[in-house]
Amino acid sequence: MKKIIIMISGRGSNMLAIARNVKNGNLKNVCQIQSVFSNKADAAGLTKAAEMGINTHCIPSRGKKKKTYDSLLLNWLKSENPDFIVLAGYMKVLPSEVIQEFPCRIINIHPADTCQHQGLHGYEWAWEKKLPETKITVHFVDDGLDTGKIIEQKMVDLKGCNSLEDLEKRGLKVEHEFYSECLRRILSSEQN
Ligand code: GAR
Repeated sequence: MKKIIIMISGRGSNMLAIARNVKNGNLKNVCQIQSVFSNKADAAGLTKAAEMGINTHCIPSRGKKKKTYDSLLLNWLKSENPDFIVLAGYMKVLPSEVIQEFPCRIINIHPADTCQHQGLHGYEWAWEKKLPETKITVHFVDDGLDTGKIIEQKMVDLKGCNSLEDLEKRGLKVEHEFYSECLRRILSSEQN
């Protein structure tokens, strides 16, 4: 059984979907959540994880020099030694020292096709472009901003969406199922 750390910065809806699947769904007996980490002490997802009985850990990035935060994060991750690090709405770029420490062991979900849109606001981008569909992307994390090797993508039909909220709701519904499905395949693969 693989040990994972989930990293978040906000509400943590993807983290919760994964946690539910670890408890009683398609990730049961595939992995266990060692800890949910956040760089923000007031991230709503941290409280929700704690309510589910999951260990939580926070290193506030605010008010710290980048170098200080990066080194505290690296040391903590090394001490935890997870098999995989799962980013779920973690809104900071990981330092290259962390990427090198966990090669092909850090996974992210992005609400757009990473070949077309990188960084924040993936749903706003699709809404403004009036896209008829968008692709949720699960990818390995490398040194760049959403440039890592794509693992899998899933199409979301956006036709008939009448607001950004509606579009985001459709996208998140897909994210919540798709991320656990991908994790199941990655974490139970023989190579790992
Ligand atoms: C999700 O839509 C996720 O794909 C996105 O942030 C949201 C987090 O929501 N991630 C990125 O944009 C990464 N570039 P959540 O906290 O409710 O899971």
